[in-house]
This record gives sequence, C-alpha cells and structure tokens, in this order.
Amino acid sequence: MMNDNDLREQVRERYAASALAVTSRPAPLNVVEADGCCGPSGSSGCCGAGGVGVGEGFGAQLYDTEERDALPTEAVLASLGCGNPLAVAELRDGETVLDLGSGGGIDVLLSAKRVGAAGKAYGLDMTEEMLALALDNATKAGATNVEFLKGTIEQVPLPAGTVDVVISNCVVNLSIDKLAVFAEIKRVLRPGGRVGITDVVAGDHIAPSERAGRGSYVGCVAGALSVSEYRAGLAQAGLVDIVVEPTHQVADGMHSAIIRATKPPASGGSSVTERTSGIRSSAYADAARDSNNGEGDRAARR
Ligand SMILES: C[S@@+](CC[C@H](N)C(=O)[O-])C[C@H]1O[C@@H](n2cnc3c(N)ncnc32)[C@H](O)[C@@H]1O
Repeated sequence: MMNDNDLREQVRERYAASALAVTSRPAPLNVVEADGCCGPSGSSGCCGAGGVGVGEGFGAQLYDTEERDALPTEAVLASLGCGNPLAVAELRDGETVLDLGSGGGIDVLLSAKRVGAAGKAYGLDMTEEMLALALDNATKAGATNVEFLKGTIEQVPLPAGTVDVVISNCVVNLSIDKLAVFAEIKRVLRPGGRVGITDVVAGDHIAPSERAGRGSYVGCVAGALSVSEYRAGLAQAGLVDIVVEPTHQVADGMHSAIIRATKPPASGGSSVTERTSGIRSSAYADAARDSNNGEGDRAARR
C-alpha cells in the first residue's frame, strides 16, 4: 500500500515530467501533450494557451492576454494552475510575496511586477525540474526581485513573520498534510498578512472517496478538501476573515475556488470557536492512496 512519501514522490515525478515537457519541447514552439497534468483523469488536455496538456478550467487560459504577453513563453506554457491568485491577492508596491508550489514561476513573475523593485517575490517548490524552469524564466523576464526556494509547503524554509502575502495556485490539494500547510502559512505571515489562493475544492456533499473517483491525486482532484474542510483548516491554523468561493467547475462536483484569509493583526491565536472545527487532513491523502490501490471504500468508512 502506498504511504505518504510514495504519494508525494508520485506528485514530484508528475510535475518533473511537466517541467521537462516544456524545456524539451521541439522548436518552433508547439503545444506539448504531457498526458493530462491538472484536471480530471482521462481529460483530453485542452491546453488553451498553455502547453502541458492541462484540462479545461486549468492553465494559462485563466490569465488576461495582457498578463500572458508580458511573460516568457515557457512560463506561460508551464502554467498548471486552476485560477489566477493575483486577481485574489491585490498586491501592493513594496510587499513580500510567497508563492507555494510555484511551478514554472508564472505567478512569481507576475507578483514581482506588482510589488516592484522595493518588494520581493519568493517561489517555493519541491521539484528540481520546476525550479530550474522557473529560474530560467526569471532570467528571461529580467526579474531581479525574485527568489526560488527548494522545499515543501509543509515546512516552508523562511523565518516566521516575514511575508506580507501568501499566494498559491492549485497546489494545496496536492499536499499530504494540509493542516501543516495552513500552520506554515500562519507562521510565515506578518501580523495582518493576507492569503490569496486558488485551488480545487469539493462540494461539501462529496465524500473523500467520491473525490478520488472524479480525478487523480496528481491531477489536483482526489486530494481536494471540501469548502467546509478548507474553511475549518484555515480557521484551525488561526487565520481569520476566511472566504472560500467556488468559481468554475473542473470535474463533476469539483470546483476551482478562490480562497482569502488574513492573519490577525495582533499575533494572538485563534478563537475557541475556530479551534473546535478541526479536520484531519491526512484522511484525504488516505482516500487518494486507497483509490490508487483500488480500495476507495475503506476510506469512505472512516
Ligand atoms: C499543479 S502545479 C501548479 C504550479 C503553479 N502554481 C502554476 O500555477 O502553474 C503544482 C506544483 O506544486 C509543486 N508541489 C506539489 N506539492 C508540493 C509540496 N508538498 N511542496 C512543494 N511543492 C509542491 C509541484 O512540484 C508543482 O510544481
């Protein structure tokens, strides 16, 4: 049976392949089909403006033409997100931004433009091949206020209280420990800091085992939290002003959503009410693992 490390390795391998599909594509630029990356399993990979076989509702098609045109082609081709977190985050001049699971760097590069020379945009990713692609894209874009970090979103390699805004695009669903991710978001944010995420969520009526039946874990579907679970997880971490708002459907009952939250201005913890609404995020990784092993029913009984 697959354990958490196996699942994370499966994710890493899939996104390494996606990065290589962009870097090793034949010239002139062609759309490269890399076996459907984000999106429901079996999706034909509609690609839109993107180039790595993303399903409908994913990728560079979710950005304005003007935004895409200002970026290196490879950053656009590597876009595997399910929304545009910059439309959620409202970045300001001089701010420090952290992108969790930065992939080919599209949102880091766009953030860097928004925060300007006085600000800084960090990208964090665990996949070497993605980091290499992102660095290359930053060089091509001439961005000087960006830095890419190797690490996991469950253990962010930045000191506490150093980030104004945490963004992320279709990555939290891939985490094997979502509560750790939410706790890390709270830790790295400055008091009053903001969260602007886009991610896949399940309708509240869809059980983890059913999510696994609507798409793969590496395809950003099986590991998705429900709307209520997302809210509860962020609240449990001590974040407030939480909004989880579905935007468009990506599979039956599964939606891309925008997620907003803030860290309370004073560094005090969350309220008693928030702390009571806990979730056990590993249950969702369990469900996905079980589905990969053809044992989805077992997770449903938990
Ligand atoms: C679906 S892609 C999204 C990439 C990027 N945010 C975008 O919009 O194009 C997921 C990315 O998250 C990274 N990733 C997945 N799980 C991670 C984890 N636990 N820690 C760090 N990076 C992770 C993958 O390597 C991959 O680059």
